[in-house]
Amino acid sequence: MSARITDREPESPIKLMVVIGSVRPGRLGLSVALWVHEHITERGGFDIDFVDLAELNLPMVDEQRLPKAQLYSRRHTAAWSARVADADAFLFVSPEINSSFSPVLKNALDYLFHEWNRKPVGLVSYGGRGGGAFGAAALRPVLSELQLITASSHVDIPRVSSQVEDGFFLPDGKQTARLDDLLDELRALAPALRSVRESALVAS
Ligand SMILES: Cc1cc2nc3c(=O)[nH]c(=O)nc-3n(C[C@H](O)[C@H](O)[C@H](O)COP(=O)(O)O)c2cc1C
Repeated sequence: MSARITDREPESPIKLMVVIGSVRPGRLGLSVALWVHEHITERGGFDIDFVDLAELNLPMVDEQRLPKAQLYSRRHTAAWSARVADADAFLFVSPEINSSFSPVLKNALDYLFHEWNRKPVGLVSYGGRGGGAFGAAALRPVLSELQLITASSHVDIPRVSSQVEDGFFLPDGKQTARLDDLLDELRALAPALRSVRESALVAS
């Protein structure tokens, strides 16, 4: 007999790593990331690991071996590897810098390879006059190289400074709706990709 929908186990929360891409003193990215964090907490369904790259303080990649080898010699790499491996999905909050994305985020991405593979990622990009879209466009091929699956929904925040007051980011309705779409996508993709990773493990 097939199980009725009401008999199913409640869905377990998804481990979502939210990364603040800017480490600049006075960064607006912190306000944006706090809005993201608060919105996700209100919605529920995710266990958030909030990663502030300023606190993580990774040096420029200082491992001798390539990340694919997973032979880490530094304690900070092993700790970062364990934290990323534990995540089911990611959400990167990144500024646009010279028509690209955060160099600090690039460094954190470059440390690892397998830990990112076959996991979903969403982007919240912001900027000045350019708006963040170029930054997101520059980030996408990097994510693809790391075998991350980028959600098609994307939160774009042009002229971010005009929406931050007293340290609080004040979203408009469209940005909140886009964030909801993005979270819906991550929620759908994370269990599906988890199955893909588990099948790959069994096959290897
Ligand atoms: C060196 C530098 C380059 C920037 N280049 C761009 C750009 O190409 N396009 C854009 O929209 N904003 C650009 N900006 C504006 C930043 O995206 C904006 O200041 C943002 O708030 C930076 O993020 P943060 O405040 O979290 O550090 C640039 C800012 C800096 C400091």
